[in-house]
Amino acid sequence: MPKQLTAPAIAARKRSDGADPLVMITAYDAPSARAVDAAGADLILVGDSLAMVVLGYDDTLQVTVDDMAHHVAAVARATPRPFVVGDLPWMSYHVDPAETVRNAATLIRAGAKAVKLEGGRKRLPMIEAIVDAEIPVMGHLGLTPQSVNAMGGFRIQGKTADAAMALVDDAKALDAAGCFAIVLEGVPDVVAQRVTEAVSVPTIGIGAGDGCDGQVLVYHDLLGIEDRMAPKFVRRYADLGTATVEALSQFVADVRGGAFPSESETYHASDDLSEALSLYAG
Ligand code: KIV
Repeated sequence: MPKQLTAPAIAARKRSDGADPLVMITAYDAPSARAVDAAGADLILVGDSLAMVVLGYDDTLQVTVDDMAHHVAAVARATPRPFVVGDLPWMSYHVDPAETVRNAATLIRAGAKAVKLEGGRKRLPMIEAIVDAEIPVMGHLGLTPQSVNAMGGFRIQGKTADAAMALVDDAKALDAAGCFAIVLEGVPDVVAQRVTEAVSVPTIGIGAGDGCDGQVLVYHDLLGIEDRMAPKFVRRYADLGTATVEALSQFVADVRGGAFPSESETYHASDDLSEALSLYAG
């Protein structure tokens, strides 16, 4: 099992220095946190993907700080060994630094060891305020799902030279502001590689090729819990959705056919109790 990581230890995990790639997987409750822990991942992200994969929304914009805190707390109650990062939801770090720090603190008090937020240079005042409050911050650049409406959909970012260089500049600014790691989502591999070389902290990619310092996938996507259209960067390691429906269908059939419960799945009373009850039988 990899050892328990801290924010400074994660910040030092550059593959260019010979470090092993970081592995982050999302989790949203105690069972998924225990599974990610047992699999030996380095970090758990309680992502705002919660909105889409657990709560049934079409995008991530609907979840609140209270929703996130509820799920961070469920993950933390499993006392997982991986380093737990709580995602700050949309509008929890956009208005003013004081409110941002209070929201970050809510996730820390719920059990996260760090927070993640989306966006580049325009988020610097918020990042600096959180770092000043001694809370480690993970950045998130590229395809930032909270910008879905501004981007006009979930679209690959950094596809022109200007956009790619702007991403590099954003990443450098986040690094200088004290972020301990940066998620790079939905960018061409050469752009992710360039960003990774430009910053001192690890990049953790999702749909960003193999040049990052680590990789992250969403729990429900990699386990195939649902059959939704997945982007091409998702590798399905299981088909739990099909296995789940098969198991549930078997239960339905067993109950309807009288095959459940069996003798061994039934509690039996003592002979005395059975006899006493029979006295009352109509
Ligand atoms: O919310 C989330 O799960 C994320 C990952 C996709 C990086 O931000």
